[in-house]
Amino acid sequence: MTGHVELADVSRALFLLSMDDADGAMAALTANWAPADEIRADLAAALVTATAADRARALGDVFRDHALPHDHANECYRAAFYFSGRAEALASNPLYAHYLAHRSGAILDKWIHYFPVYHRHLERHRGTPVRVLEIGVYRGGGLDMWQQYFGPEATVVGLDVDEAAVRAVNGRYLVELGDQEDPEVLRRVNAEHGPFDIVIDDGGHTMAQQIVTAETMFPLMLDGGTFIVEDCHTSYWDYYQGGRKRAGTFIEWVKDRVDDEHARYDAAIDRRSIWATHLDGLHVYDSVVVLDKAERFRPFSEVAGSSSYLRSDRLAESYLADALASRDQLQAELEAIRGEVAALRDEMGRATERSATEAIENDRSARLALQRMRQESVQTNAELERLQSELSSANGRVLESWEQIRLMRGSVSWRLTAPIRAVRRRMSR
Ligand SMILES: C[S@@+](CC[C@H](N)C(=O)[O-])C[C@H]1O[C@@H](n2cnc3c(N)ncnc32)[C@H](O)[C@@H]1O
Repeated sequence: MTGHVELADVSRALFLLSMDDADGAMAALTANWAPADEIRADLAAALVTATAADRARALGDVFRDHALPHDHANECYRAAFYFSGRAEALASNPLYAHYLAHRSGAILDKWIHYFPVYHRHLERHRGTPVRVLEIGVYRGGGLDMWQQYFGPEATVVGLDVDEAAVRAVNGRYLVELGDQEDPEVLRRVNAEHGPFDIVIDDGGHTMAQQIVTAETMFPLMLDGGTFIVEDCHTSYWDYYQGGRKRAGTFIEWVKDRVDDEHARYDAAIDRRSIWATHLDGLHVYDSVVVLDKAERFRPFSEVAGSSSYLRSDRLAESYLADALASRDQLQAELEAIRGEVAALRDEMGRATERSATEAIENDRSARLALQRMRQESVQTNAELERLQSELSSANGRVLESWEQIRLMRGSVSWRLTAPIRAVRRRMSR
C-alpha cells in the first residue's frame, strides 16, 4: 500500500468507468492505496454520478479538492471530455483536427480549451499572406500546426532560447535563437522577419517575459494584427513570480490595459499610449489573452432616427420626439383619470340618493361610505390637476423644440447645407 494513488491505477479506473463499472473503478483506485475515510467517501460519491463523463469529471474534482497530483485530475478531465462527446463537437475546428491527426512527428503539447479561442481570433487570417511569429518553439510541433492552418502563403517564424529547438526544426522554418525577455532580440527578429500580423507567445511564461514581449512586439505589429499570450495561469503560480492580485504579474498588467481601453473617459489615463490608441480589443479567456491591434477612432456618440447631418438639428428632433411622446402619454393618463372622475361622480350621485333614504333609517355606514367617496374625489381631482400641469409643461417643451428646429432652419449652416438636402430629396424620389 502506498500513501497515494498511482497514475496507472487512475487510468485503469477511468477505463472501467467508461464500461459503467463503478465498483471495479473503486477497486482499481484502492488496489495500492488506502485513502483517508473522507477521501474514500468523496470517491464513492463521485463514482455513482449519472454518466461516465460526470463520473470522470467528479473523480477529477476529488483529486483536485484533496490536492492530489495535478496529473491525476488532468487524466480524469481528459477522459470526461472524450466520454462526453465534446471532442466530436470540436472536430470541425481545423486546429484541433490537425492536433488529433498529429500522431507522429514533432511533439505538440496543448491545452485543448485553447483551440476554440485560437480559431475564433485567427480564422480571418487563414489563406492570406500573413507573417506569424511563434515565441517558444520547443520541437516545432506548433510551427507545423500554424503553417498548415494559415496556409502556404503565410510565413511562419519561430524564436526560442534553446538551441535544441533550432536543431529540431532543422531548417523547415526560420527559427531565431534568443531570449524573449530581451527587447533587443525581439526588435531584431521584427526587423529581419517582421512586421508581424500575428504573434503567439508560448515561450517561458514568466511575468517579465510576457510583459516585455507584449510591450515590445505589440507596437511593432501591423494594424489588424492579433497578439496571443498563452498559459496566463502562470500569473497565479509562485514559481513564475505570479500570485493573485500581486503587482507585476501579467494578469495585473492586462487589468491596466482595461483602464487604457477607457482612456477617453478619464483624464488621468494617458490617451496617447499605444494601448489607448491601438488596442482595439482585449479578450481574456482561461489562460489565454488576445490583444487586437488596430488604430481606434476617437469615440463619439450619434443620435439615430433623423436624416439630418447636423448634430444640433438631430438633437432638437430627438427632444421633440421625447416631448411628443411624454405629452401623448400624459394625455392618455388624463383621459383615464377623467373617465374615473365621471364614474365616481355618477356613483356619488347614486350614493347621495341612497344615503338620504338610509339616513332616514339612521344608517351610519352609508354615511361613512359617502364620506370615503368624497375623499377619493378630492384625491382624484388633485391628480387631475397635477396631470394637467404636467401636460401643459410637456406642451411647452414641444413648442420649445419646434422653435429650436425653426431657428436652426434659419441658421447659416442649415442654409448652406440646403443644396445637399435638395439633392437627397431628389434622389429619394
Ligand atoms: C511550451 S514550449 C513551446 C511549445 C510550442 N509552442 C509548441 O506548440 O509545440 C516553451 C518553449 O519556450 C522556450 N523558452 C523558454 N524561455 C524562453 C525565453 N526566455 N525566450 C524564448 N524562448 C523561451 C523553451 O525553450 C521552450 O522550447
